[in-house]
Amino acid sequence: ATGLDTAAKAAGKLWFGTAADIPGTGEAQDPYWSAEFNSSDFGEATPANIMKYMFTEPEPGVFDYTGAEQFLDFVEGTDKLVRCHNLIWQSELPTWITSPNVTWTNATLSAALRRHVTTLIEHFGDRCYSWDVVNEAFSDSPAGAYQSNIWYNTIGAAYVVEAFQAATDAVKASNLNVKLYYNDYNIEYLGNKSYAAQNLVKDLKNRGIQIDGVGLESHFIVGETPDKASQQANMQAFIDLGVDVAITELDVRLNVPATAATEAQQVLDYYNSVAACVAVGKGCIGVTVWDFDDTYSWIPGTFPGQGYGDLFLQPGGANTTLVRKAAYDGVLQALTGA
Ligand code: G3I
Repeated sequence: ATGLDTAAKAAGKLWFGTAADIPGTGEAQDPYWSAEFNSSDFGEATPANIMKYMFTEPEPGVFDYTGAEQFLDFVEGTDKLVRCHNLIWQSELPTWITSPNVTWTNATLSAALRRHVTTLIEHFGDRCYSWDVVNEAFSDSPAGAYQSNIWYNTIGAAYVVEAFQAATDAVKASNLNVKLYYNDYNIEYLGNKSYAAQNLVKDLKNRGIQIDGVGLESHFIVGETPDKASQQANMQAFIDLGVDVAITELDVRLNVPATAATEAQQVLDYYNSVAACVAVGKGCIGVTVWDFDDTYSWIPGTFPGQGYGDLFLQPGGANTTLVRKAAYDGVLQALTGA
């Protein structure tokens, strides 16, 4: 049987992959979920939560790798590469950073940032294919401005440069073969937010700082997904700057319950993203979905009334048989050109 990862590799990609919340939502204890996770559909895994700052550095300078190691132990041995996620983000920060009782200065927060980036990259080394060094730095309103967050408000735009500089230094110091990524949403089509990310790539390259790729998250809404040509043009714009792109968090949510019309549209939406990655060639290295089973999707918790965003569901609930949705065939068709 041809799985999605098998088909992706045949199409010249490094993988078709998935996010996984291990340990976390209990999916790893679900034998049906696990069997599918270990199938030829997936050749890459991204930790959905457990490598984030609050888990990996819960107290200043005190690092906890317990959950992250559990994730890696579960994933390794199944021939999957890992996109490590993420080092510097505004969310999932420990209270020792966000507490209003702590006063940060540019110098003290920059030092904390550098310690976090350096320590994680050195600890996990080549077990990470890549790291999302900075996640979601740009705003939607106005599009392409820097997000107001503790990093930006304390350090300024330089925090992004400092994070990539620290990552570059760590990779060099330990002689690692780890790719460094910028990862964001609403940069999957040309527009001010994508241009901001493109300018970041140029700026880092001009400074001689390592950046290997840009992650296009691709959390889409059914019927509002940019078409294939738009996604392809956007991917090409990044590739022309000398970086790879990857689709890193693909899902297509809709108002539940799905109708025949929204389900058909979802097939097309999935198809368009994956087909754009195939059409653009080697520069789009692979596609990762943000979990593959509606049972464990983040969507209903964040967008009440919406869901049905993944490639599989469990009609009987957790710990029961998975069923492929029509969207699965849309992805397979995009990968095989059939
Ligand atoms: O595990 C606990 C559970 O024990 C508890 O009962 C429950 C009650 O709220 O929370 C569970 O933890 C939640 C965790 O997801 C596991 O599902 C956290 O509250 C929740 O904040 C966390 O959300 C994650 C979110 O990032 C915030 O970090 C999502 O799983 C994760 O899918 C999402 O991923 C992000 C990417 O990192 C960046 N791009 C966007 C993407 C989607 O928001």
